[in-house]
Amino acid sequence: MKKWTKLFVVMTLVLSLALVSVGCGSKDNTAPADGKKVFKVGTDAAYKPFEWTMPNGDIVGFDVDVIKAVAEAGGFEVQIEHKGWEGLFEAVNNGEIDMAVSAITITEERQKEYDFANAYFEATQLILVPEDSTIASLADLEGKNIGVQQGTTGDISVRSAFGKEYAGVKPFENTPFAIQALTIGQVDAVVADNVVVLEYIKANPNAKVKFVSDDAFEPEYYGYLVKKGNTELQQLLNESLQKIMDNGKYEEIYNTYFGK
Ligand code: ARG
Repeated sequence: MKKWTKLFVVMTLVLSLALVSVGCGSKDNTAPADGKKVFKVGTDAAYKPFEWTMPNGDIVGFDVDVIKAVAEAGGFEVQIEHKGWEGLFEAVNNGEIDMAVSAITITEERQKEYDFANAYFEATQLILVPEDSTIASLADLEGKNIGVQQGTTGDISVRSAFGKEYAGVKPFENTPFAIQALTIGQVDAVVADNVVVLEYIKANPNAKVKFVSDDAFEPEYYGYLVKKGNTELQQLLNESLQKIMDNGKYEEIYNTYFGK
């Protein structure tokens, strides 16, 4: 090979290697090809219809659709990962994720340690019981075994009704486990967010369960949870959420999940 041909071959190699590495770089989640900022979102993807995991591993649901629309409106991107319920709070604190989106109720206790964006959904607690149960109110749960997802507002409501150390509270790692315990008679009732309880009943018409409502359960509001003091992200979320509330996108997603 002539000297110049050799040089040409070497240069081409160097160039293509450089191009390949640039290509790989664009897969880096914090620096996508389109230059949009990517925020890491953690969730407990076992809470249908808000977030659940498809057999292929995809995380889908109302929360997922809404946060994606929020991101689009705000000109950023989100990368959603399953962290589990208790893991979420820790992951926000240690910076592993930027925010938690998981049907999280804004509570005063949580506001001491975290910041929330504005509310995006109203909820309350419902009691799930076997079809033939005589339980007809929150008060009727006294002395019964009650399945809850540990650390959720279901757990908190039951403890505030019957005492923090009430032995009848049976905490589970996730809500499906609590419901499963009910279906095999391990607990007498489950207390969880209304929409999740209703979704379970709808999806399992042969489960022989029913729900009980009680006005003693306070209204709750879901919000996105960010690290305390991260006002920049909090504000970005608030502005972007407002945009999809104003332009009908939120309503469109709401209607596809819950009807008009
Ligand atoms: N809204 C309730 C709470 O904030 C329950 C949320 C549970 N969410 C979940 N993805 N498991 O405590």
